[in-house]
Amino acid sequence: MKALVLAGGSGTRLRPITHTSAKQLVPVANKPVLFYGLEAIAAAGIKDVGIVVGDTSREISDAVGDGSEFGLDVTYIPQSAPLGLAHAVLVSRDYLGDDDFAMYLGDNFVVGGIDRPIREFRAHRPDAHLLLTHVSDPRAFGVAELDASGRVRGLEEKPAHPKSDLALVGVYLFSSAIHEAVRAVKPSWRGELEITHAVQWLIDEGRDVRSSQITGYWKDTGNVTDMLEVNRLVLETIEPHCDGLVENSEIIGRVRIEEGAVVRNSRVVGPVVIGAGTVVADSYVGPFTSIAEECLVEDSELEFSIVLRGASITGVRRIEASLIGRHVQVTPAPPVPHAHRLVLGDHSRAQISS
Ligand code: DAU
Repeated sequence: MKALVLAGGSGTRLRPITHTSAKQLVPVANKPVLFYGLEAIAAAGIKDVGIVVGDTSREISDAVGDGSEFGLDVTYIPQSAPLGLAHAVLVSRDYLGDDDFAMYLGDNFVVGGIDRPIREFRAHRPDAHLLLTHVSDPRAFGVAELDASGRVRGLEEKPAHPKSDLALVGVYLFSSAIHEAVRAVKPSWRGELEITHAVQWLIDEGRDVRSSQITGYWKDTGNVTDMLEVNRLVLETIEPHCDGLVENSEIIGRVRIEEGAVVRNSRVVGPVVIGAGTVVADSYVGPFTSIAEECLVEDSELEFSIVLRGASITGVRRIEASLIGRHVQVTPAPPVPHAHRLVLGDHSRAQISS
């Protein structure tokens, strides 16, 4: 069995808070989301991985290399334009041959890995096995409708009026039957060859399409609350570790301090990760905070937040539930001269905090 990881898409910055042009490299607990996918693939016993790349191919290959760090053998497959997930399968035909494969969308995060669905797929060898999860707003996803026995009856891509709240998670297990399906589908209203339509084609042809449901799923939709939550979940699992320098500081709980980081005159309450080369001085860093590499946190208080590479936070109290982008500078506002303009009647009593 091979894996096909989709890390293409255009390099446009999609959202104000997009911190890297490749969305698959958005960090969760200081590690690109794509790496968790690659680790899950390796843990499931798959070695041969094709990574589909587009505009951001350089960024992706700089980060992943030949895959040996993950115990994988990675082949890069260029996709000329992001013409859809089914198009990504089309361009990977030679690489995949007639092997079964796991297709993994590089911006998805599946808590607990993919061993179980892969075991299930291997046991039954259907033509497609989908992963589904309950979501609050299914309109942002592919949506599955199941029949009474739990079999997939139909699929729709980003429906305005979803027939269920079961979203398609970005992990699909396929036999080689999918190649005929991706050749059969036509571009959708958004101009893409949809994998959802290709799987629907398999269903219509009477092929064996199964599914299983998972909990613990996240994808970067630009929602900061969700991102803080997945970061929190992952931080819950880190092991304490110190490769940096701690001076005159109190470190409590699970705190990972990476190489060359310095924590001075500070209090850090885990779970927290502090990236390589980052300096935390005269500050408090509270639970569920990830500070990336080469940051400065000085004379500040920070909790339940994500700080991306090269940011500096100085003289600010207190920052909570925040996402601070790369190379951002946060400083105190210059003091504004206070003046009160008052019209107070006779015998008034006014209390003014100054
Ligand atoms: O994340 C789950 C959802 O992924 C499913 O519920 C939907 O059914 C499925 O269509 C897909 O929807 P998105 O619109 O969110 O997919 P997106 O365009 O974000 O692409 C997913 C990943 O695949 C992302 O890492 C970029 C990569 N990609 C995307 C396209 C369109 C490619 O490598 N090539 C492509 O042509």
